[in-house]
Amino acid sequence: MPENTLTITDNRTGKTYTVPIEDGTIRAMTLRQIKTGPEDFGLMTFDPAFMNTASCRSSITFIDGDLGILRYRGYPIEVLAERCTYLEVAYLLFFGELPTAAELKNWVHDITHHTMLHETTKKYMEGFRYDSHPMVMFVSTIAALSSVYPDARQVHDAENRLLQIKRLLGKAPSIAAMSYRHNVGFPYVYPDNDLSYTENFMNMLWRMVEPKYVANPVLSKALDILFILHADHEQNCGTNAMRVIGSSQADPYSALAGAAAALYGPLHGAANEAVLRMLEQIGSPANVPGFLRRVKAGEERLMGFGHRVYKNYDPRCRIIKRTADEVFQVTPRNPLLDVALELERIALQDEYFISRKLYPNVDFYSGLIYRAMNLPASMFTVMFAVPRTCGWVAQWMELVADQEQKISRPRQIYIGSPTRDYLPMAAREAAPAAVGA
Ligand code: ACO
Repeated sequence: MPENTLTITDNRTGKTYTVPIEDGTIRAMTLRQIKTGPEDFGLMTFDPAFMNTASCRSSITFIDGDLGILRYRGYPIEVLAERCTYLEVAYLLFFGELPTAAELKNWVHDITHHTMLHETTKKYMEGFRYDSHPMVMFVSTIAALSSVYPDARQVHDAENRLLQIKRLLGKAPSIAAMSYRHNVGFPYVYPDNDLSYTENFMNMLWRMVEPKYVANPVLSKALDILFILHADHEQNCGTNAMRVIGSSQADPYSALAGAAAALYGPLHGAANEAVLRMLEQIGSPANVPGFLRRVKAGEERLMGFGHRVYKNYDPRCRIIKRTADEVFQVTPRNPLLDVALELERIALQDEYFISRKLYPNVDFYSGLIYRAMNLPASMFTVMFAVPRTCGWVAQWMELVADQEQKISRPRQIYIGSPTRDYLPMAAREAAPAAVGA
């Protein structure tokens, strides 16, 4: 018998099946042959929230959650954060290799020349209510781009795909910055092609009446590092949404709007916003023990702690903490930092968090950095979505080229009523749950 197989005995029938094990997985479809009789549909797996299901083969990002390892295309995140720029990392994620000097020059040129938005997109954004949440504006405006670029529906044309990803990478910061400016009531700022990717983003966020925006180099470097750390994170909730929508061959703008919408949830990318609100609610280091007591009693959740995959330490957090120190040297000191440090100190010694392997995640400190840069909490998830754009499109490109993929369509276990007779309205009685509804 070959070694890489699994033998399954169905105790309902006494039959034995041998299924191959490949890359530490068995194909769920091989279970379908396991039936109690010809009428039986066949065995399925039940995996709410995909806790133990691989949905694709991917060569983009590797994570070992137990060891706290994160690599893009084989390169450790620590090395990339130290040595590369964000656009260099984006190139790596798309094309699988770090660019040569000439390749990077062309790449940066192309992205830079796709930062402008069509004037009608600007008008579209002007239509949002004055206090709209910037993330809502970001999601909707990304979706609206598919009306500006209907050619994006040609998802099987490789050249066309490349054009759309350059557009997305170029325009994501412009849309993000305009969402912010709209929210605070400032006029929109057009891109400046002389500046680097992050400097230009800062220009569009913060330029006021000065003739030329000059970015603080510590802050632009910090932003570049944060962007690298957020660029991709394999099959997380938002990326899974990108792949699911992309699997129907929808255009990348529609798929990316869906991915960004998934990111907007407080259990995912909006956790950074929730962390800041939590720190404000705690107010001072003296209140930390009481807050943690409520967390342990299940009355609160410690936002910015815990991760579905990392059960050791989020390697991005170590880099973020160092970056935070550098940012706090050049920005006014935020008293909430003391609350965060005290929370981290006590939680890391507490049996509740130790036994559940709950450690700070990337969102625990990123919000404090963005706040130090004077951004409101409502912008934090947008600051996550901008760099994650490259991960989403890299994963989408991989999906589109993957011959093994089909339209995403999970199964269900139906637990509703069996077939029943239709009741005319006069014969119906209100069901208990519906009373007062
Ligand atoms: N605070 C308090 N308790 C927690 C936390 C937390 N932040 N996270 C998990 N737990 C507890 C759960 O209550 C559970 O306890 P139990 O075994 O007594 O029931 C145990 O730890 C396991 O937690 P699960 O919810 O099963 O873990 P899961 O992998 O489903 O959740 C998640 C991961 C959603 C990230 C969770 O840890 C969480 O809600 N964290 C706070 C939100 C957050 O920071 N999200 C950002 C994640 S990073 C990102 O998306 C970019």
